[in-house]
Amino acid sequence: MHSIFARINNTSALLSSCMMALLAAIALSSLVFTAKPQGNVSIASVQVYSGNTRRYATKRQDLAFVDFNITADFTPLFNWNTKQIFIYLQAEYNSTLGVKNEAVIWDRIVRRKEEAHVNVVGKNKYNFRDLSASFKTAPPASYSLQYNIMPYVGALTWGEAARTSEPVAFPPRKARV
Ligand SMILES: *[C@@H]1O[C@H](CO)[C@@H](O)[C@H](O)[C@H]1NC(C)=O
Ligand SMILES: *[C@@H]1O[C@H](CO)[C@@H](O)[C@H](O)[C@H]1NC(C)=O
Ligand SMILES: *[C@@H]1O[C@H](CO)[C@@H](O)[C@H](O)[C@H]1NC(C)=O
Repeated sequence: MHSIFARINNTSALLSSCMMALLAAIALSSLVFTAKPQGNVSIASVQVYSGNTRRYATKRQDLAFVDFNITADFTPLFNWNTKQIFIYLQAEYNSTLGVKNEAVIWDRIVRRKEEAHVNVVGKNKYNFRDLSASFKTAPPASYSLQYNIMPYVGALTWGEAARTSEPVAFPPRKARV
């Protein structure tokens, strides 16, 4: 009896170590691909409106609206270990307080290689506001297209596919229409 149990135990231990080794090999092999996606980000316009968000009725909060054009090819990132890729457009600027602000204004999940050519002319999907409630003193912002690869096995990896060539200034605030 004992020896049968011991044998089953040994076999399953061996199987699970084989499995671990296989998964490690898959995770490592996909690291060999250091493909870099290439893309372009351009900002057609930025507008700032004063908004009274209902939730903070007493506080005036500026909202920025960004019209952008993204073209990027993420197909090189698809291999046997790519489950999906999370891509997002991020606005970055150093506030006057010296704090680095990063705001995600648009995102998308790419699940298949066939969808990996991304050409989007659009507007921010998420509210874009400054912590100080106003963009008046905010310096020009850079916009970058970032990605996060979710593999079947292994660790997440991050990268950058494109960035605006020049930072884009925030214009003066307009009244809400
Ligand atoms: C990005 O722009 C450059 C020059 O404007 C062009 O050569 C390149 O093909 C563009 N890349 C994509 C993915 O559109
Ligand atoms: C978006 O950018 C691409 C290349 O970077 C360009 O070919 C295309 O015409 C642009 N679209 C608009 C609407 O500006
Ligand atoms: C913010 O400051 C850091 C260093 O202080 C600099 O490397 C970075 O380029 C700045 N970012 C922007 C968007 O100006």
